[in-house]
Amino acid sequence: TLIAPAADLAENGYAVGYQLHSDLVEYEDFLKKYEATAAIFYPKSRPLRLNALFKQPDLAATLRRIAADGADEFYEGETAGLIVRQMNASGGLITMADLANYQAVERPAVEFDYRDVHVITMGPPSGGGIALAQILNQLERVDVPDLGYHSAGHVHAMAEAQKRAFADRTAYLGDPDFIKVPVQELISDDYAARRWGDFSELWATPGKDVANGDLAGAYESEYTTHFSVVDRHGNAVSVTTTINGLYGCGVAVAGAGFLLNNEMDDFTIKLANRNMWSLVGGVPNLIEPGKRMLSSMTPTIVTRDDKLMLVTGSPGGGRIITTVAQVISNLVDYEMDIKQAIDAPRIHHQWLPDIIQTERFTLSRETRQQLARMGHVVQERDGIIGAANSIYIDPANNWKHGAFDSRREAGAAGY
Ligand code: DON
Repeated sequence: TLIAPAADLAENGYAVGYQLHSDLVEYEDFLKKYEATAAIFYPKSRPLRLNALFKQPDLAATLRRIAADGADEFYEGETAGLIVRQMNASGGLITMADLANYQAVERPAVEFDYRDVHVITMGPPSGGGIALAQILNQLERVDVPDLGYHSAGHVHAMAEAQKRAFADRTAYLGDPDFIKVPVQELISDDYAARRWGDFSELWATPGKDVANGDLAGAYESEYTTHFSVVDRHGNAVSVTTTINGLYGCGVAVAGAGFLLNNEMDDFTIKLANRNMWSLVGGVPNLIEPGKRMLSSMTPTIVTRDDKLMLVTGSPGGGRIITTVAQVISNLVDYEMDIKQAIDAPRIHHQWLPDIIQTERFTLSRETRQQLARMGHVVQERDGIIGAANSIYIDPANNWKHGAFDSRREAGAAGY
């Protein structure tokens, strides 16, 4: 039922927007290298023009095949055949047997409380939900509203919590089918209290001193588009999908009309290596046959008094996690409205590099100077941090407020 409208959209086309057009201009050399990709995005060898009607008949046919014959069509049918043919044409390794053996796995959600709200989010093989819980559980130990929004003290506490969570991500997280992930311990309040034990109100704890927290057991040996939906009955779906880098690996499957990902980059390719998102790889996430890579995806649903309150999530590699943490804290701690909570400028600390990254126009010069005196390195990014398309449900009247993140071209229906 969800596939049919997508197939219609692919078949009937939609107007090329500014974002797609300018991407195609910027990445022309990269995307034109692959014949099938060039055929989709560069008709007559030119980038799709702004406002041109963009039709994708191959993709529409693929979606209709899947709608008719289910997942097996994708993993074993005509689409699988097209993928393998493309693999052979462009030096890929995936075989028919690999596809037939792949199975989507339903896994338990990660759940925890933050002040008076309950958070339901994604578990391993994403590290998103666990890191989100760790950040918010540590922040819970601080009187956040009292600090004043984006004061040096606020940014300091936020960055210190983020830093500790990301150090643990490297040390403990990976595919739960291959390693034992100590989920309950990592997301517990006791663990947050221990982790927060060396927090100083005055000074930044250097990244090299943060390492990972000590867990009771010995675990070492065992070693991006987001959208939110709520229907009129209050059923909520929080979806993050990823092909990792912009336009994945750039290769489209000829005849099938979709791009292939470069998700292998989410693995630890070699120890201490930094991936595309500058995340440091740890042992639990080393590449192994049949293993799933560690993600940062954090599709999240928040309830208050057992009633749906928020559906949120974001793209952005490691910045997904810190984005979702700030959206929730902005709502719960500062009582911002949903549009403010999403659009407010963000900061990001992922342990290594040991710096606080900010969007432009986030912190005053005085605040940056104060953070520098505390031992932080603060760096303004040119780019954005996250894009958290969300829905907030007003408890007073049950109205649903769809809010798109102004950082990316998007639309939202609020009703
Ligand atoms: O799963 C992950 O964590 C990455 N593949 C996400 C990449 C991403 O968010 C790209 N978006 N800007």
